[in-house]
Amino acid sequence: MNAELPLANRDAAHLPGHWLLARLGKRVLRPGGVELTQAMLGGADIEGADVVELAPGLGHTAAEILTARPKSYMGVEHDESAATIVRDRVGERGSCVVGEAAQTGLPDASADLVIGEAMLTMQTDRSKAAIIAEAARVLRPGGRYAIHELALQPDTLDEALKKDVQQSLARAIKVNARPMTVEEWRDLLVVGGFTIAETNTAPMALLQPRRLLADEGLLGTLRFAKNLLRDHDARKRVLDMRKTFVKYDKEMVAVSFVAIKA
Ligand SMILES: C[S@@+](CC[C@H](N)C(=O)[O-])C[C@H]1O[C@@H](n2cnc3c(N)ncnc32)[C@H](O)[C@@H]1O
Repeated sequence: MNAELPLANRDAAHLPGHWLLARLGKRVLRPGGVELTQAMLGGADIEGADVVELAPGLGHTAAEILTARPKSYMGVEHDESAATIVRDRVGERGSCVVGEAAQTGLPDASADLVIGEAMLTMQTDRSKAAIIAEAARVLRPGGRYAIHELALQPDTLDEALKKDVQQSLARAIKVNARPMTVEEWRDLLVVGGFTIAETNTAPMALLQPRRLLADEGLLGTLRFAKNLLRDHDARKRVLDMRKTFVKYDKEMVAVSFVAIKA
């Protein structure tokens, strides 16, 4: 990858968790990993579809989408460096604009499938609703909205514990993460005008060795480990993130939905 990573000049102590992991060589930046992505994409009916991906990050899922032969691919990513990386990655088979997921500038009813992973969790309640409304606007009737996000469990999780997880997570990853229960995610999509066609869950195992191997491969995992050993500040951050993930392992789960625009 030749293009510069997002926030390349920011020190490790203050970098949002996903860009810190990217700096260390991680390419899959979502809670359920490639396996949950594949389950979600499998139910999203990509072939022949006009696809819009919100917040493609480093373009890993973009590449997966392209192998399933969509009619078109358009990414909308608000980080300029990430958008450049995605553009390099999709080449002539798609494009990626720098933009806001809640205001893509795309025409009404111009897509069959909108995809967004690990991007709603980091929005406020109002922004979550605005992005879902934008997905509904851009989709044709009957179009699909596929998301992959972080959830809390069980649905009856005590409110105080929920706040505790959200605050600890936000502190560790330095992103204002606001995961919700699976039921709350579902309700948000339904209120936004969607019916739920498919739900899948996977353990939130972003930093567990088995998941690292599955997501990054052996070489990628070794590169990540080597970079971690070489960078004291980054290692401290990653260990802190991992500690939080382990502490709330029971309360966190990755969830994906395929929802249909009514
Ligand atoms: C955790 S990363 C996930 C990247 C990628 N979807 C993945 O799963 O590997 C979050 C991404 O969302 C992008 N992002 C966050 N808020 C956004 C918004 N409002 N509009 C567009 N992109 C956004 C960030 O720049 C970043 O690329």
